Amino acid sequence: GNIQKIASDLLAHYDVHARRLPWRAPPGANAADPYRVWLSEVMLQQTTVAAVGPYFAKFTQRWPDVAALAAEQDAEVMAAWAGLGYYARARNLLACARAVANDHGGVFPDTEEGLRALPGVGAYTAAAVAAIAFGRRAVVVDANVERVVARLFAIATPLPAARPEIRAATDAITPDARAGDFAQAMMDLGATICTARNPACGICPLREDCAAFRTADPAAFPVKAAK
Ligand code: ADE
Repeated sequence: GNIQKIASDLLAHYDVHARRLPWRAPPGANAADPYRVWLSEVMLQQTTVAAVGPYFAKFTQRWPDVAALAAEQDAEVMAAWAGLGYYARARNLLACARAVANDHGGVFPDTEEGLRALPGVGAYTAAAVAAIAFGRRAVVVDANVERVVARLFAIATPLPAARPEIRAATDAITPDARAGDFAQAMMDLGATICTARNPACGICPLREDCAAFRTADPAAFPVKAAK
């Protein structure tokens, strides 16, 4: 049905057009390294892919695994973070690295629930790491995914009230297999095609599946509450 067609259309597009981001496993390689996935997801909160690139490279060169990061002095990590902003993220990053090193033998928990119990790991990060690093089926909703889903289903409820509806719809279209690729494909679609302004519907792999595309103004979704 249409629900499964969304994931299959999107994954077929992703197989050809996935952005080659440094924290992603190259096509055909082993699963992505949980440390790199976790580090990238923390950096990507409130920061663009372009801005994160050089910081991700610097951190992974200096601290190639979670044990190396956990053993570092606070001041060194804070100095390396300078420029990324939201410094509470860097404090939580270190607290999390030390929890993984000290309480989990240096191995990241491989379930959403286990990840969620780590310091500074919220619902989004736990879902993203569970899906991307461990292939778990998890419902991953960030701002890009929210916009894509609001358009696919032409959700008329305004944000933020629409969030539960958007989460339920994301759950309904998330496949059992390749949930990590699916999540990242949704993010890529939101970042490159299903953009907030002037979405490129003409090249969108989900055009046929999209209720907003059949309206006069696809960019009117998600609906925002009147100010
Ligand atoms: N934004 C947050 N996480 C991302 C990811 N894994 N790929 C692309 N954009 C992202």
